[in-house]
Amino acid sequence: MRTTVGIIGAGPAGLLLARLLHNAGIDSVVLESRDRAYVEQRQRAGILEQGTVDVLRAAGAGGRMDREGLRHDGIELRFARERHRVDFPALTGGSSVMVYAQTEVCKDLIALQLEGGGPLLFGAEALAVEGAESERPRVRFRHEGREDVLECDYVVGCDGFWGVARRAIPAEHSRVFERTYPFGWLGILADVPPSHDELVYARHDRGFALLSMRSPVVSRLYLQVPEGTDAGSWADEEIWDELERRLETADGWSLERGTITSKSVTPMRSHVHEPMRHGRLFLAGDAAHIVPPTGAKGLNLAVGDVVTFARALVHLEETGSAERLDAYSETCLRRVWQAERFSYDMTTLLHRAPDATPFEDRVQLARLRRIATSRAAETDLAEGYTGFPLD
Ligand code: FAD
Ligand code: DHB
Repeated sequence: MRTTVGIIGAGPAGLLLARLLHNAGIDSVVLESRDRAYVEQRQRAGILEQGTVDVLRAAGAGGRMDREGLRHDGIELRFARERHRVDFPALTGGSSVMVYAQTEVCKDLIALQLEGGGPLLFGAEALAVEGAESERPRVRFRHEGREDVLECDYVVGCDGFWGVARRAIPAEHSRVFERTYPFGWLGILADVPPSHDELVYARHDRGFALLSMRSPVVSRLYLQVPEGTDAGSWADEEIWDELERRLETADGWSLERGTITSKSVTPMRSHVHEPMRHGRLFLAGDAAHIVPPTGAKGLNLAVGDVVTFARALVHLEETGSAERLDAYSETCLRRVWQAERFSYDMTTLLHRAPDATPFEDRVQLARLRRIATSRAAETDLAEGYTGFPLD
């Protein structure tokens, strides 16, 4: 098998890249180790930045998002039983975000790809990337019980944190920057209308809580839990009781309960692999970097990477100049580190570390009060949340 761009992984990064290349007349093949149902149902991110929304629309993948997605113009911060709303358009010159789940983004992109795009092979597990430093990199993969080789001009590893692409970069060319957190998120989906019309991020002495949503009738909620917690160890009523405690306000707001349809725990880590390119192998999305989920940057960063790659390749085809492709890693990493910083700030602003001292608790509350009372501090949060521009 032979193609121009071999794409490993059909998460949001791989699927969007295939779409962008198809629109530019560049052929690609996507290899995905799991089946279609798995990719379409894996519960993950829920918030699209303004820039991501614009990219999906421009790629012709925004139709259902515009009909069913929920535009949000702000979030609420809760601490010390007080509430403070951050108004995004007023602080950023008009930006907002969209509540539209990653599952739905993937469904829309898969449908487009299968309708008229290049090959998208489910159940095709990449085993290794070979010859990254040569003119003809190859992906060895297994599909329907047989081993095969995909010969490419370029390989883009969009295969997430546990994928194989990153392993093809020799250790002597790699640097990893990492931080793990001693807590995770217990996330639930519940068949109940969201109890607030915008997302609520709550700091509480017992730990962080987040009220989010997937639709006007489905709520998505998260609780900070100790690292290594088993989701099954929390009974449904215990989860609701704890959410109620952490989200409580002095003005009598109440949390509506409903049937919990899914429960899982997500670990929290920051991780950046530098560089994001080795020869003709490029890394994009979670294959290159992970952010803790606070602030919802993971999916949006993945989109930024593949837009940067697609634009650079089109530039090469149109002008013969590889300058932008050569700058891929640097260009992406500038934005990646801004998102790492933002996600780190949001995580440390809102979570309670198990060994937090009373001094740190007071500083955390002072940071929150600063955001609630200083337009400059609030603007910094609003700009970070709605997204950093692509270069
Ligand atoms: P992925 O979505 O991980 O896609 C990678 C794809 O590659 C997968 O489909 C995988 O099956 C495939 N693959 C892996 N190895 C191979 C192989 N060898 N051969 C072929 N295919 C392979 N972000 C937020 O903003 N908010 C959240 O609430 C949030 N929750 C998350 C919860 C979890 C459990 C996880 C893991 C992540 C979460 N994220 C969240 C992050 C966000 O979902 C990711 O940043 C986003 O999915 C990145 O997209 P991607 O395409 O780079 O990687
Ligand atoms: C969601 C996830 C996040 O990490 C976040 O900051 C906001 C919302 C969500 O899954 O809905």
